[in-house]
Amino acid sequence: MFLEIKDLNTYYGPSHVLQGISLNVEQEEIVALLGRNGMGKSTTLKSVMGMVKPKSGKVIFQGANIFGKPPHKVSMAGIGYVPEERRIFPNLTVEDNLRIGVKGGVVDESNPKAWTLEKIYEVFPSLKKRRDNKGANLSGGEQQMLAIGRALMGAPSLLLVDEPTEGLAPIIVDAVRDVLEEINKRGVSILLVEHNLEVAMSLAHRVYLMGKAHIGFVGTVQELDANPEARAQYLEV
Ligand SMILES: Nc1ncnc2c1ncn2[C@@H]1O[C@H](COP(=O)(O)OP(=O)(O)OP(=O)(O)O)[C@@H](O)[C@H]1O
Ligand SMILES: [Mg+2]
Repeated sequence: MFLEIKDLNTYYGPSHVLQGISLNVEQEEIVALLGRNGMGKSTTLKSVMGMVKPKSGKVIFQGANIFGKPPHKVSMAGIGYVPEERRIFPNLTVEDNLRIGVKGGVVDESNPKAWTLEKIYEVFPSLKKRRDNKGANLSGGEQQMLAIGRALMGAPSLLLVDEPTEGLAPIIVDAVRDVLEEINKRGVSILLVEHNLEVAMSLAHRVYLMGKAHIGFVGTVQELDANPEARAQYLEV
């Protein structure tokens, strides 16, 4: 198995916000993790990434135990993270924001997972045009592209992406969607948290639906499509 999360429990103080989450991602797969506000989707990603410390459970990535490991160790193991807040450096140029994502500062071109600036600009032509602009001067969509591009510069084999289309205009939503699809075609697996059901369903191979602190449904996109009860229970407001 590529990424295996088993019976993961995470607390914020006394509140038990992940109560035995189990979820897998296979190599080359796009898996969507969906659910209403406050169910624990972001906390699941943060618990894998080591941004919050889970209390118990198992997280195995490519055979390595990464449970409870700090973010830099998880990142070294090959997982990239695109947080909801994007966290672009406003005073750095697009290109410097990208360079910051490179582990060890130098692109290791012998690594088949490595992304050079040229490769990034091929997939993100809008960033190429803006390469000398400061982060602060980018649109929301460009900032999202930059956050994804920066994570790729770390040569991940799996990308955790939290709400990449949130707050973006429809045409930009489509562009972000297409970029994620292209990245996946180039061999990066993706665990995607997304509120836009259409985007999630058009990208994902499999879907997990979260209820409060737990997984309520697992299936292929086709299975979810054929299951209006699951959608009503876990998605519709
Ligand atoms: N830093 C924190 N301290 C305390 N409680 C938190 C913290 N972050 C999140 N929570 C709580 O943990 C629960 C899960 O939050 P989480 O952000 O993982 O949900 P989510 O599914 O990502 O929601 P959304 O769709 O709104 O982003 C919620 O009840 C939330 O209020
Ligand atoms: Mg969230």
